[in-house]
Amino acid sequence: MFAEFGAQTTRFTLNGSAVAVEAPPGERLSDSLRERLGARDVKVGCNAGDCGSCSVLVDGELVCSCLMPTRKAAGRRIETVAGLIASEPLARDLAQRFRGPRRRAMRLLHPGDDGRLGRPAAAGSDTGRERHQPRPRGVLCRCTGYRKIVDAVGGVPAHLAGADDAGHAGAAIRRLDGAPKLDGSEIFGDDVAPPGTLEIFVIRSPFARAAFGFDDLDGWCARTSGIEAVLTAADIGGRNAFGVIPSFADQPAFAEKVARFPGEAVAAVVGTPEVIRDFDPATFPVRWQELDAARTRPRPAPGAPRCCTRGRAGNVMCSGFVACGDPEAALEAAEVQVERRYSSGFVEHAYLEPEAGFAQMVGDRVEIHTCTRAPVMDLDSMEILLGIDRSRIRIVPTAVGGGFGSKLDISLQPYRRLARSRPAGRCE
Ligand code: FES
Repeated sequence: MFAEFGAQTTRFTLNGSAVAVEAPPGERLSDSLRERLGARDVKVGCNAGDCGSCSVLVDGELVCSCLMPTRKAAGRRIETVAGLIASEPLARDLAQRFRGPRRRAMRLLHPGDDGRLGRPAAAGSDTGRERHQPRPRGVLCRCTGYRKIVDAVGGVPAHLAGADDAGHAGAAIRRLDGAPKLDGSEIFGDDVAPPGTLEIFVIRSPFARAAFGFDDLDGWCARTSGIEAVLTAADIGGRNAFGVIPSFADQPAFAEKVARFPGEAVAAVVGTPEVIRDFDPATFPVRWQELDAARTRPRPAPGAPRCCTRGRAGNVMCSGFVACGDPEAALEAAEVQVERRYSSGFVEHAYLEPEAGFAQMVGDRVEIHTCTRAPVMDLDSMEILLGIDRSRIRIVPTAVGGGFGSKLDISLQPYRRLARSRPAGRCE
């Protein structure tokens, strides 16, 4: 364990118990709660004060703990979701607010029902509800909208009064994960790593397209204390390509010689949490040479630099044509015709639950605990990338959270697995 520069003791009350935490200057309260005090019911989504996943009560006031320095918590009373649920003085209030019919209603009304539940009973009732019922405040939810949450907290809708979640025809589907999501005990990808787990910092391209090379990685590694390993494409044992559909699999886990988009991974540094937290990527020995890039959408101009590493004539991964009806006749019959050209920018799925996890060796098999919706597809990809028999790989999915079409292909899985194998000759 490395001594943390300037670490200072901060004392406060956490869920009714006096605690002391050694934290360096500027450490977020969310990090101290999760990583030093084990309060994994405090989640971190955006780390920027936008989503509310890290909400705690500080002396009774709702606060985003990711925006509060730990030192400002000195002498204060901090309550987390788990503490609220367990707290004796609040038990009666919680029994009213979250348990019994309302807690059951929140579970019933969560997505996964048949789409009917939670709708207003009559047109226009939304207005009344907004006027008379509480609104969620400070927590961003992208999965449901807020209607079902408001219904559950503000009052059990008439059609749910007396409803059960026994699973008979016409009843809401009972969500087995409803209760742990309410009380904060659900385990997501960022919650599974045991204390002291090594962390990975991925070195990514700052350019749209760039050639790159490394200077004496072994020497840098040996000179840099706290770094356990450096990983590059040279450490990929199998085929350096993955993708959600096998015939489209052409994305390397680490770029080789040329990076083709901003953020493409070229290397990864493995170290203790303290070292990775303070790691300055500017010190990493990588040389970049910026190159012309294909910047036009949706298709790069003819003759543009190649986006793909193999095949893909004209920089096109795949194409298709869908014909339906008679567009000419429909246009002819239309009262108004408007012709415009529209384009939209790239939009990330923006779920609150990070793609995170950890890997450990169990005998000669690697266990990769990860946030994924497709563990078997992950296993297929890891077998190809690592070049080892699939019986030596185990994918353990955590709770997923939002997906919105993502979390199907692999993201950080190869880096975790490679970090567990500690490449010979680097930092040993
Ligand atoms: S507001 Fe703190 S993690 Fe999003």
